[in-house]
Amino acid sequence: MRIPQFGLPVLAQTLCKLEQITDGGAFEVDAPDGMDTLVLLRFGGVVKAYLNVCPHAGRPLNWAPGKFLLAHGQLVCAAHGAAFKPEDGVCIGGPCRGESLTRYDVSVVDGDVVLNQTEPAT
Ligand code: FES
Repeated sequence: MRIPQFGLPVLAQTLCKLEQITDGGAFEVDAPDGMDTLVLLRFGGVVKAYLNVCPHAGRPLNWAPGKFLLAHGQLVCAAHGAAFKPEDGVCIGGPCRGESLTRYDVSVVDGDVVLNQTEPAT
């Protein structure tokens, strides 16, 4: 892993333990920007990470710290009900249909959920 503007290698950042995330559930951790949070979604041994900011009106997706709405296999924004596919963060229903959550690249390494780069994935 490298810092893009300098080409220097950096260490991956551990976000949490995989076991802290309920399988099929969501977990909130600090985002690398130091201001927002990330929502981590677990599918067995795989984790997806998105910035906890809704593309509709910029509100957090959760209704309370660490509390996310998951309904019918989708992540639902608590503000106005936009529904996002967990596997790619695309909104499939609600006021921002077709837009996407900001995705971050994470891996599971030795039971840790690791942030692979501090910038959003493209
Ligand atoms: S802020 Fe998420 S649906 Fe409006």
